Amino acid sequence: MIDIHSHILWNLDDGARDFDESIQMLRLAADSGTSDIVATPHANLCYAFDTGAVNERIQRLSGKIDSIRIHYGCDFHFYADNINDALANPSRYTINGRRYLLVEFSDLLILQNTGEVFDEMLAAQMVPVITHPERNPLLYLRTADLAAWAARGVCLQVTAQSLLGRFGSDARDFAHELIERGLVAFLASDAHDCTDRPPRLDLGYRYLAQRYAERIARALCIENPRAVLTGDPLPMPPAPVKSNRRWWFW
Ligand SMILES: [Fe+2]
Repeated sequence: MIDIHSHILWNLDDGARDFDESIQMLRLAADSGTSDIVATPHANLCYAFDTGAVNERIQRLSGKIDSIRIHYGCDFHFYADNINDALANPSRYTINGRRYLLVEFSDLLILQNTGEVFDEMLAAQMVPVITHPERNPLLYLRTADLAAWAARGVCLQVTAQSLLGRFGSDARDFAHELIERGLVAFLASDAHDCTDRPPRLDLGYRYLAQRYAERIARALCIENPRAVLTGDPLPMPPAPVKSNRRWWFW
């Protein structure tokens, strides 16, 4: 599996606190079946994004755990300064310097010109990936906007633990609504540590395979995330899907 959203780099944000914790997180990811993980430290008002520090830490961690590769990325918060800098320097924030850009909305307001900014980003060859919309209550009544943005090429990423109820029933239910409407391209861990928010996709993968179909799990956890690493179009674009009826009897 390929995890496109994690806070595995130590001492850059509220993720791993030290080198040892970074190693433990990598080991847990590898042991649970993740072959590639994107390190995405926050770029927000609390945590400045330092590309030199990100690259240096990725280099120091690479090869320490044989079975997992680490990739460059950013948990990009969607506000004016960041947006202007990303439009001027896309590869500073995009995953592996290619096309896909994680975008986290504020919990307090969704910018009125969000659609226009997305259009600008798309025109600049960036593909915005809205991170964990299911965890932002401001979006619960804006499914039509999410669908409209997705139709223009924006992607949605759900957090694996949301499917399992870690962020409450509203987040869980909205995650499933978005998947069933065919709006979700990726599952990711958004890991911050080894226990409370671990770098595991295996449980989410299994859940998707049982509730929907193996091909949905593969699309969200393997095939589409692989395209993010290389900057290619999605091989398995999201489409509406129904819950497996048997699910309800388990
Ligand atoms: Fe994150």
